[in-house]
Amino acid sequence: MADVTITVRKNGPYRVEGPIRLVDAEGNEYDLTGKPAISLCRCGASVNKPFCDGTHSRIGFQAAEAAVRREQQGEPPLGGAQVQGGPGHAAGDQAVPPPKMRTEM
Ligand code: FES
Repeated sequence: MADVTITVRKNGPYRVEGPIRLVDAEGNEYDLTGKPAISLCRCGASVNKPFCDGTHSRIGFQAAEAAVRREQQGEPPLGGAQVQGGPGHAAGDQAVPPPKMRTEM
């Protein structure tokens, strides 16, 4: 079994470390040569999907697990970050240029 670790960053991306193969919806493989780790966008607001570009910090992204806990306490979600179309469906998705990988967050 490959030694891959996926870390859910608090209110941030999924950090993927280890040897992986990442492909787009058509099966085209991203070139991850020389990248021992990548961060995948979880907030849906990155302009460099599927990679995180740090936008989650700017928009005040609150991860679902944190929001659920607040909701269970009868409190509204923090931040009020609303992403049009939801995660993975931001406007302009089709026009996003080829990804520039960001390996450090
Ligand atoms: S999780 Fe970082 S930009 Fe979306």
